[in-house]
Amino acid sequence: MKNRIIIFILFLLPASVWAQDAPVTKGFWDDPINHPMAPFYALMALVVLVTVLVFIVAIMLLQVLNTFVERAAKEKAAALGIEYKPEPSWWQKLDRKLTNAIPLEKEATIELDHNYDGIKELDNHLPPWWKWLFYGTIAWSVVYLIVYHVTDSVPLQQQEYENEVAMAEEQLRKIRAAEPVAAIDEATLSYTADAALISKGAVVFKNNCVSCHKEKGEGSIGPNLTDEYWLHGGSIQNVFTVVKNGVPEKGMIAWNAILKPEEIRDVSFFIMSLKGTNPPNAKAPQGAVWKEEVKVEGVQADSVKAQASL
Ligand code: HEC
Repeated sequence: MKNRIIIFILFLLPASVWAQDAPVTKGFWDDPINHPMAPFYALMALVVLVTVLVFIVAIMLLQVLNTFVERAAKEKAAALGIEYKPEPSWWQKLDRKLTNAIPLEKEATIELDHNYDGIKELDNHLPPWWKWLFYGTIAWSVVYLIVYHVTDSVPLQQQEYENEVAMAEEQLRKIRAAEPVAAIDEATLSYTADAALISKGAVVFKNNCVSCHKEKGEGSIGPNLTDEYWLHGGSIQNVFTVVKNGVPEKGMIAWNAILKPEEIRDVSFFIMSLKGTNPPNAKAPQGAVWKEEVKVEGVQADSVKAQASL
């Protein structure tokens, strides 16, 4: 009995989880004392408490009454000289109704003709509770089919997920739009040795890049970022683009999925500021020498591209 009550309570638990799906408004528990419904809830709680108490007292009285009735029946049986048989309790009756089990003493009537080493088989009924649950699932499947697949009145899981993603994206778009920062991209960016931005960039570098480019940018898994040799070009546009889009096939992450545009700018500025710092134990040069102002026959853009593709 105790176990069944515990299992029942466990079944109730998820209800509190579902309750949290409700839209987030200022709830009762944020400020219970000053909530307008507080007196009503307090009254309800009191009513529930009193009901429970009355219920407990009633059960106890009933038990006392039962003991008396039983004792009287026993005495009567003793006086008449017959054997006393206790009435089945309401729980036993309910159990019998729900399981439709054949009482022990009548089991011989449903015994099948199987006997394996003394283990016999009974032709018991399916328990009604189980049968009705099964019929219930069949009925439910019809409702489910109509609601989800015929009338399409409720979204399926996949659609639900997509709706939520769309909602989140819409929220993100609103937040982004509300941010005053102008769009930062390689097309409009130009490098200035802004100490504030560079020191912010140093923090970003320390948190994300040192594992491959080392503390001072001298390089280890990733190339040396302090020399004048560059794999993808050494202009602020080149550096910003590489950090933003990465070189995934070579192990350099596309940081735009992790860092904000301004963080990519700051860390790019920091890298630009490393030029010529000559840290000890620097990695051997990789790529080609980068010259900021390459003017071959006056076509700067093309040579920048040529450098970048090296
Ligand atoms: C998992 C290792 C790894 C991490 C972490 C990493 N990088 Fe790289 N990085 C590389 C590799 C490898 C390359 C060389 C790619 C190639 O060969 O094309 C590279 C290349 C670069 C380049 C181009 C260098 C050139 O010579 O053109 C820049 C700039 C750069 N990384 C900046 C960063 C920044 C900024 C961070 C931190 C936000 C970072 N990296 C984090 C591995 C890494």
